[in-house]
Amino acid sequence: MKRTKIASTARIPLAESLLLEGDVSDVLPRLPDESIQCVVTSPPYWGLRDYGINGQIGLEETLAGYLQKLTGLFSEVRRVLRPDGVLWLNIGDGFTSGNRGWRAPDKKNPNRAMSVRPDNPPGLKDKDLLGVPWRLAFALQADGWFLRSDIIWHKPNVMPESVKDRPTRSHEYLFMLTKSERYAYFPEAVMEEAEQGRRNRRTVWSINTAPSLGAHVASFPPELVEPCILASSQPDDFVLDPFFGVGTVGLVARRHRRRFVGIELNPEYVTEAERVLSSVVNGVPKRNGIHYPEPKHEHQPAFLEPSGKYRVRTRRDS
Ligand SMILES: C[S@@+](CC[C@H](N)C(=O)[O-])C[C@H]1O[C@@H](n2cnc3c(N)ncnc32)[C@H](O)[C@@H]1O
Repeated sequence: MKRTKIASTARIPLAESLLLEGDVSDVLPRLPDESIQCVVTSPPYWGLRDYGINGQIGLEETLAGYLQKLTGLFSEVRRVLRPDGVLWLNIGDGFTSGNRGWRAPDKKNPNRAMSVRPDNPPGLKDKDLLGVPWRLAFALQADGWFLRSDIIWHKPNVMPESVKDRPTRSHEYLFMLTKSERYAYFPEAVMEEAEQGRRNRRTVWSINTAPSLGAHVASFPPELVEPCILASSQPDDFVLDPFFGVGTVGLVARRHRRRFVGIELNPEYVTEAERVLSSVVNGVPKRNGIHYPEPKHEHQPAFLEPSGKYRVRTRRDS
């Protein structure tokens, strides 16, 4: 697999889909201004998982530090977004640690064990819900984003929790944010079925969590990504996921003939994303070295560019 090194100050030209391995803080500043039509992403949640890699987001000592970090990164996302572009942001919540300083491994989710857990944020008590999604939404709004909608991602098949003193959480938030007051939105592309025909999409989306497409503990179900891409981009547009994981956003983008830019810190996930993207796109296996033409019709299979062209290594140019 060919990996291309890029000088630290160089802007990365966007012509075809790219899978960029590196820290989002280093990579995002190199993307061209106003080049992306739609962003669909899910940053690591605060204090929830240790992905075991230096530079990972989510292990900030304070909630304020986490919110500040993300607000800064999303301001860079706003720079690369076209004026009529849309950001779809999925973000999860959590509870205070009760100043326990660690979390024991969970049998079903061993990497939820944390050797360090942050103290309760100022003003919050033991067992308080953190309210991270709305805190982040308000911080982004204050930073200049238009907060256009909150969407409840209802998970009908959510895993049971061992709690007995509150309801089991079965939802997460997805926020729709825009750079401008007016923006590209295609309501017909995401109409939902109703008793009397079809109607405008509602704000509660019931979507089962799905087994990961690759070896990732927290990948998107493609069904969550699809309406976001269809509602706010058109064929050939660029769709960005700055926390690409195993590439679900790239996969859905290519299925709908959009180009994608994926940024991911963890080289193992980058390798998984390559595998997912090259072998699962509409079930059509990648054929190395040949540049496939874009499909002419929506239902024709989409192909990936040859791998050497879309994987670019940017991690501090080492
Ligand atoms: C919630 S997961 C995203 C999963 C993705 N939506 C998918 O479907 O596979 C967050 C991802 O952000 C990555 N990540 C964490 N810190 C990062 C950083 N500083 N730069 C780039 N990626 C980072 C993690 O490795 C992880 O894969």
